[in-house]
Amino acid sequence: APEAPAASPVTITVTGGAGQIGYQLLFRIAAGDMLGAEQPVRLRILEVQQALPALEGVVMELHDAAFPLLASVDTTADAAVAFEGADHALLVGARPRGKGMERGDLLAANGAIFAAQGRAIQERASERIRITVTGNPANTNALIAAAAAPDVPRERFSALTRLDHNRALAQLAARTGTPVGDIRRMIVWGNHSATQVPDVTHALVGGEPAIDLVDREWVKGEFVPTVANRGAAIIEARGASSAASAASATVDHVRSWVQGTPADDWTSMSVVSRGEYGVPEGLVSSFPVTCSDGRWSIVDGLAVDADVRAQLDASVAELAAERDAVRELGYLG
Ligand code: NAD
Ligand code: LMR
Repeated sequence: APEAPAASPVTITVTGGAGQIGYQLLFRIAAGDMLGAEQPVRLRILEVQQALPALEGVVMELHDAAFPLLASVDTTADAAVAFEGADHALLVGARPRGKGMERGDLLAANGAIFAAQGRAIQERASERIRITVTGNPANTNALIAAAAAPDVPRERFSALTRLDHNRALAQLAARTGTPVGDIRRMIVWGNHSATQVPDVTHALVGGEPAIDLVDREWVKGEFVPTVANRGAAIIEARGASSAASAASATVDHVRSWVQGTPADDWTSMSVVSRGEYGVPEGLVSSFPVTCSDGRWSIVDGLAVDADVRAQLDASVAELAAERDAVRELGYLG
């Protein structure tokens, strides 16, 4: 058998582990793809009571994969147990949208879940806790969880826009005939919704400005709508929302946060605004960020293209409307 690693295990709480994303995500984490090949992990999986039997099957498979880094797996339907000592909270469990729905339609259904989990995180999690919300509407769910956990530093709350970022990389790579690994400085701004703003104006393709390689018509007419509506296209094609790519992006998001971004690149993360780029303070919005030593910082001083500005204003208006809606529902205290 492989030698046991020396570092002490990190506790990772994953919600919705019996779902589609969970079925991919748990295995990627246990394989070491998220925190590295030297870092043992304890998995703590939160599910609703009726999904616990199905979750037992997933747990059997986790054991059967004999991952050397997997120190333990526990399951529970009790949030207080799930977040006890958690170093990472990956909030995936939520009701996904179906055909014809927008992610915002899920606000009421999911608000209560994220408020309760925010409270449990505040009461139970480790001082190192970092929260990543994948469950939709991800940005506003993160806002709700943060509001329910006022003692946890604001910068520990994040929502996933890495999938949008990765989709944008893939589209630009295909258009320019370049491997995704040769593209730097992509940005996705705003909400994880159809109003999101994929932005190539700072991107480099093999070191060259992307805007010298693709025309504005393609950016406006194809690139932005394809990336922004990709979630819906996948629902249409699969009859279910994206799962493997969403799990992969969640792994990428946490890996960048913990292990850092490369010196010549950045990534996109939804974080609590302090007013950067005109995004009102307190909204959870996507920004270009660099990460080092387990901390993110928003890339500052970028010139914002006029089209991008207009689209970002619309996305921020949607975030503000979602915030007002959940405040009305009583989820912001
Ligand atoms: P799914 O329905 O297959 O699984 C969700 C799981 O969450 C279910 O097993 C359900 O029992 C569980 N769950 C529901 N309420 C819970 C609660 N209170 N506590 C713990 N578990 C709970 O859905 P999925 O396809 O895995 O997607 C999960 C979420 O991720 C959805 O909201 C989906 O829209 C979202 N999503 C986000 C992105 C993104 O990029 N941010 C991408 C894809 C999917
Ligand atoms: C996605 O972007 O694939 C997810 O947010 C699922 C969805 O509802 O689109």
